[in-house]
Amino acid sequence: MKILITGIAGFAGSNIASDLISCHPNIKIFGIDNFSRKGCEQNIDLLNAKGIKLIRGDLRLTSDIDTIPQVDWVIDCAANPSVLGGLDGQVSSKQVIENNLLGTVNLLEFCKKYQAGLILISTSRVYSALELANLPVKLIKDRFEIDNPNIPGLTDQGISESFSTSAPISLYGVSKLTSEQLILEYSYNFDFPVWINRCGVLAGAGQFGKADQGIFSYWIHSFKEKQPLKYIGFGGTGHQVRDALHPRDLVFLLSNQIMDPNFNAPKIINIGGGIENSISLKQLTNWCEERFGANEILSSQEKRPLDAPWIVMDSSAAQKAWKWRAKIEIYKILDEIADFASSKSNWLSLTS
Ligand SMILES: NC(=O)c1ccc[n+]([C@@H]2O[C@H](COP(=O)([O-])OP(=O)(O)OC[C@H]3O[C@@H](n4cnc5c(N)ncnc54)[C@H](O)[C@@H]3O)[C@@H](O)[C@H]2O)c1
Repeated sequence: MKILITGIAGFAGSNIASDLISCHPNIKIFGIDNFSRKGCEQNIDLLNAKGIKLIRGDLRLTSDIDTIPQVDWVIDCAANPSVLGGLDGQVSSKQVIENNLLGTVNLLEFCKKYQAGLILISTSRVYSALELANLPVKLIKDRFEIDNPNIPGLTDQGISESFSTSAPISLYGVSKLTSEQLILEYSYNFDFPVWINRCGVLAGAGQFGKADQGIFSYWIHSFKEKQPLKYIGFGGTGHQVRDALHPRDLVFLLSNQIMDPNFNAPKIINIGGGIENSISLKQLTNWCEERFGANEILSSQEKRPLDAPWIVMDSSAAQKAWKWRAKIEIYKILDEIADFASSKSNWLSLTS
């Protein structure tokens, strides 16, 4: 079997490629990346060592896609993945849409041509930013907890697939949500298999963490490198909560989805660390202080209108359909990042 992984030099792509090949030595993996993410070139040696054929190319360009050989499946991990993408002056709004949406359209044409299956690594950010921002929370110890779970799509496990996807959801979110719709449409009309996995926050060693993306990595590396940090929003207290998922945990699911393309399961599922793997920034700070000693944490009263106090993914549909659950515990993920940070003293300057 031949598999193309897009965005292969990125955090998710490189982890998925590396683990897929370890689990299935007989598959042949091709990867494409335009190396636009600062730091992703750090993964080239690892991918070469695994025998993965790397194509330097851009999904926005059909002439680059034409250089990709025929494959059986595509796992799409290429994106500009920041929720602030196109809004914070780092990249333009058009770049976000072109990378995330035009890239998907070009890939869909590729899949149609070869009748290849497509798996999209989608995101929890397809859910309504406004409704996430308005979730009712109360403070319990060092973290927010949901105060009144009586909201459509919010279960005692977290945000489920039926949570609102109404605008506004960010340019990043809408580029993914629109990609999802196009993927389902192409699959139906041109008869190739697809799966859409809406992932919560991914975390692990080697992530190119920035304040707006890869927060676990950014926070831990900043502690290690004694770089000041800032609690933003929610009174500057750091009580906002996220769950963490290690990308290695995706490989069991992806393998099953590839091996069983006609399996009777929902096409769109949530995949996340869940409540057991969730933590607030304040709790993360406490953990980092134990490990690395104190660091300067500033407190900003700035209000970011669409920032969410609490995002935890309810992955029970994935558990029911695929017997999938996150196995790598959050403190193992944090340890892995901290060990990596200890071995790479200048990681932040290489990657952000
Ligand atoms: N990191 C997370 O917390 C998270 C959470 C949910 C979903 N996701 C999704 O997972 C996927 C991978 O995210 P990541 O964290 O690995 O990001 P990343 O930035 O580390 O990797 C993305 C890779 O895609 C490449 N890329 C971007 N535009 C491209 C283009 N036009 N052509 C070719 N390559 C291009 C980049 O160079 C980079 O190597 C994304 O689709 C993202 O939406 C990530």
